[in-house]
Amino acid sequence: MQGKRILLGVTGGIAAYKIATLVRYFKKAGADVKIIMTPASVDFISPLTLATLSKNPVYSQYWDANTGEWTNHVELGLWGDVMVIAPATANTLAKMAVGLSDNLLLTTYLSAKCPVFIAPAMDLDMYQHPTTKRNLSLLEQDGIQILPAQKGELASGLNGEGRMMEPEDIFTAIESFLTKDQELQGKKVLVTAGPPFEAIDPVRFIGNHSSGKMGVELAKALRNKGAQVTLVLGPNSIQDDLTGIDVKPIRSAKDLLAVVQEEWAKQDAGIFAAAVADYRPAKVADQKIKKKEDALTIELVKNPDVLKWAGENKKNQFLIGFALETNNEKENALGKLKAKNLDAIVLNSLQDKGAGFAHDTNKICIFDKNNKMTDFELKSKKSVAQDIVDYLSNRL
Ligand code: CTP
Repeated sequence: MQGKRILLGVTGGIAAYKIATLVRYFKKAGADVKIIMTPASVDFISPLTLATLSKNPVYSQYWDANTGEWTNHVELGLWGDVMVIAPATANTLAKMAVGLSDNLLLTTYLSAKCPVFIAPAMDLDMYQHPTTKRNLSLLEQDGIQILPAQKGELASGLNGEGRMMEPEDIFTAIESFLTKDQELQGKKVLVTAGPPFEAIDPVRFIGNHSSGKMGVELAKALRNKGAQVTLVLGPNSIQDDLTGIDVKPIRSAKDLLAVVQEEWAKQDAGIFAAAVADYRPAKVADQKIKKKEDALTIELVKNPDVLKWAGENKKNQFLIGFALETNNEKENALGKLKAKNLDAIVLNSLQDKGAGFAHDTNKICIFDKNNKMTDFELKSKKSVAQDIVDYLSNRL
């Protein structure tokens, strides 16, 4: 934890008194801690206590009445390696969920670029309320990591779920997030994802059922292991939190090739998961094609094979391709591995239930250059991405 920067937000709940202990854990482990308090929280724990323990000024106002200095929430938001809001009251998490910014902590949250953790704490009924549950789920969708409230005795005298996670456990969660699994630190990895669209005219295109989810999960898993990730992403509706990933949006296979040609020499590895159309219309009509004859013929020409280009132009990069097959799976995958000069190929077969485009799950096996096969179970795409990234990181 030495030198890690922790931006700690404290809100107005009784559990705020425990934050002194949390600050001690962070400081003992060598982390640098800056604290922002909501106006309500100062009734529960004194800013002087937290300033003394963190060895930094505590922020709670937009400007300091004594010096006249403005507190720059954008700078604070960019400072942290991680932001932890503990305790997070029902009020604060509701405001976070809708983007309200009526205090310094909330404006800083909206400016933060780092991963954010929240440790909710409130009374039993408030925690169970559908509104709170909905807000927590919205925050989760925004990529916020929830440190769930625990069961036990509550300040109201009731017994149930709503106690803030103990400081020791919050510390362990943040420590393991910041220190473990960073073995791809300093490595650059290029990921291609999604279905490029090939225009027919200004309103129509040739596409496919790929959602881009597998590639996006790969990019996130690589980022979480410390890699510097460039994600070349075809059109999709994915709303994931891609903070920290250099996203290069593209439309067609030709755009994809151009970005890969620009980026490839700088990379240590590539994972090519884009579902590239093999052909595109020979000509793109300037105007919308009108309905006339009973049949319409569109001439198609071959698209560049982007992965093949990367294989032919690799130096020391470790290159992984994908093969989605319906028959002769192993033979086809090994053929692609050789033809495209890959180091490994991930095979998913549409014969496996739960694999492929239309699912949140996938079943893969990976072949290397020596035909060695590593087989995996049917898993969520997130876990499959983790397996592929672990495979890569063992070989880099
Ligand atoms: N790929 C690519 N550019 C293309 C076609 C494919 O980069 N024009 C990449 C895909 O991202 C994938 C791998 O090549 O990693 C295999 O793609 P796939 O569509 O399975 O194979 P193709 O080589 O297109 O062969 P076929 O369609 O005949 O199976």
